[in-house]
Amino acid sequence: MADAPIIDIARLPHPAPVPGATRQQAIADPGFGKVFTDHMLTIEWSEDRGWHDAQLGPRQPIPLDPAASVLHYAQEIFEGLKAYRLADGSMALFRPDRNARRFNESARRLAMPELPEAAFVEACRALALADRDWFPPVDGGSLYLRPFMFATEAFLGVRPAKQYKFVVIASPAGNYFKSGAPAVSIWVAADHTRAAPGGTGAAKCGGNYAASLVPQADAIARGHDQVVFLDAAERRWIEELGGMNLFFVFADGTLITPPLTGTILPGITRDSLLLLAREEGLTIREERYAIDQWRDDAESGRLVETFACGTAAVVTPVGRVAGEDGAFTIGSGGPGQTTQRLRERLVAIQRGAAPDPHGWVMRLD
Ligand code: PLP
Ligand code: COI
Repeated sequence: MADAPIIDIARLPHPAPVPGATRQQAIADPGFGKVFTDHMLTIEWSEDRGWHDAQLGPRQPIPLDPAASVLHYAQEIFEGLKAYRLADGSMALFRPDRNARRFNESARRLAMPELPEAAFVEACRALALADRDWFPPVDGGSLYLRPFMFATEAFLGVRPAKQYKFVVIASPAGNYFKSGAPAVSIWVAADHTRAAPGGTGAAKCGGNYAASLVPQADAIARGHDQVVFLDAAERRWIEELGGMNLFFVFADGTLITPPLTGTILPGITRDSLLLLAREEGLTIREERYAIDQWRDDAESGRLVETFACGTAAVVTPVGRVAGEDGAFTIGSGGPGQTTQRLRERLVAIQRGAAPDPHGWVMRLD
């Protein structure tokens, strides 16, 4: 007997997919997050029925009651993962089981229902395959998948909603950073924090990103690419960027990255790089690192590189750091050797150009 499907996905015909020539034009230089594919996948949840009604159909606006509790109390979580094109032309996801697991950790923190991990992965797989023609033909291109869930119940009382919608959309992606510079410049947020102990910093919920917008805009206005957040209690310990984790590389071959104490996102790229760096024999320390120390170490040459990492940004060198009390340059201000080597190793595994000893790559076809 054949295995029962993980989720029963109803496939709705698309009455008017984007014509091929228009699609080719749209994906020729997609940037990040601006171009969207033909389809979306949705699954409904209600207290009495649980998960039901999975559909893969045309991408379209979602009707929502004006009292839907997501619009009032922000019960919303999301994930971000990429479908890659492997060297042999097939498509693959990178560690989608980890995104599924983190999605459920976020769901628990936001008092939302958990989606079985296999259903999350199957939903991503089904959409990536349906929209495979949208894969961008650009260097480093990918199909970025954005699974998310929000509360749809029309109710204004403050309690967990009793109805939710899970959705996956897809967006052809090139480089995350517009500047194309070899290293990014970051601004230290002095007046704003992103997450406090006991808060939602470790969850991937929309509210965390809403809180990051003012300091991020401040960074851009001052001519930087990204903002770096310090801890909320002492305003001293480096946490992460608005959408990336940080690593510090020292002249003696040691790597430091802030520990997962509940106020930063447990990045899947972070986790993968920790393992690759350990395999290279680098000494890894997951420990707090202070902003003043960062400047002192960069100036003395003890610190030679800093890089940011995440699904969207991959591995991106940080060249310059600026704050209210001045700026400093890291190493030569450009990409360092360890950053480049780790990036190349990760990308080679993701794209099927190197062996995958940890089983991180899930082939889709
Ligand atoms: N930190 C934040 C706040 C993020 O939004 C992201 C991106 O998802 C990351 C870190 C990196 O996580 P990952 O490597 O799983 O993409
Ligand atoms: C990602 O890297 O997938 C992110 O979600 C970061 C950002 C685009 C929010």
